Amino acid sequence: MKTFRDKVAVITGGASGLGRQFANVAAREGMKLVLADVQRDALQTAVDELTAQGASVIAQLCDVRKSEQVQALADAAVAKFGAVHLLFNNAGVGSGGLIWENTEADWEWVMGVNVWGVIHGMRIFTKLMLAAAESDPAFEGHIVNTASMAGLLNAPAMGVYNVSKHAVVSLSETLYQDLQLVGAPIGASVLCPYFVPTGISQSHRNRPEDVRMTTGPTASQLAAQAMTDKAVSSGKVSAEAVAEETFRAVAEGRFYIYSHPEALAGVRERMEHIVAGANPADPYAAAPQLKDLLRAKIKGAKA
Ligand SMILES: NC(=O)c1ccc[n+]([C@@H]2O[C@H](COP(=O)([O-])OP(=O)(O)OC[C@H]3O[C@@H](n4cnc5c(N)ncnc54)[C@H](O)[C@@H]3O)[C@@H](O)[C@H]2O)c1
Repeated sequence: MKTFRDKVAVITGGASGLGRQFANVAAREGMKLVLADVQRDALQTAVDELTAQGASVIAQLCDVRKSEQVQALADAAVAKFGAVHLLFNNAGVGSGGLIWENTEADWEWVMGVNVWGVIHGMRIFTKLMLAAAESDPAFEGHIVNTASMAGLLNAPAMGVYNVSKHAVVSLSETLYQDLQLVGAPIGASVLCPYFVPTGISQSHRNRPEDVRMTTGPTASQLAAQAMTDKAVSSGKVSAEAVAEETFRAVAEGRFYIYSHPEALAGVRERMEHIVAGANPADPYAAAPQLKDLLRAKIKGAKA
């Protein structure tokens, strides 16, 4: 997608963190904006700030787990702005701990937002974009799915999140291949951030009632929460920088987008082990102190 001015961007999870920064860059580039989120107050603040900067923006309360709410989001975008050109399937949540200790509600929540949210967005908005391209030969669209380095690696005590993000990488690569297959004027990218300071480690703040925590937290969940809090809050690459890099990648038609390219050493090692048929590589090989800390915290919290 070469130009952004006067085009329409839809951003899920647009009220905080990476989504909020995508909105800033989109507004600066002269795009019209549709922000979707479940957190009403943060959404309103974002709209007020962006409007004050002169952006044309609407907001929609939308739980991306729900197909009908994502459809209503698409309908609202078309009703207001006539089309959608750039979609960020970005809303995401996390839940840690040893993989067998996560409850069914943990799985339903994280898979609901991180996987079903992206499925609904991809399904509904790709068709919308394809229809727009049919009637306008100059139409250009792009879909950015936010996965994670957790979609390319499998660190311990992050199982539900890892599974959800691997699914997003797979979905995105397949979307790219399918769009290429039919020659659609729609690009696709997958964003794989490492640790970036945002609200992600506090995502339980917006955990819905229907998937509330019924037990725990267990020792491993407390340990994972402490590790994630520390890693996210001390992240050295800002959400703003990740948003800028993401727009550069969209403009250049780049599929894989990374916040911390140095973390790809772990991905290379993982792939080499897979190809060699060796047992899984240690994702903490470069930082054994982290694994020691995690192990000690799990044991300590149990004592
Ligand atoms: N920050 C990081 O270190 C990091 C690393 C890798 C991947 N990610 C991914 O980046 C994306 C954005 O997260 P962030 O880091 O900006 O966190 P964030 O918590 O700051 O923002 C996420 C937003 O999603 C919203 N949201 C939660 N559930 C929702 C739902 N059901 N429907 C609609 N919106 C919902 C939240 O209210 C919040 O505004 C997520 O997909 C996350 O998994 C973040």
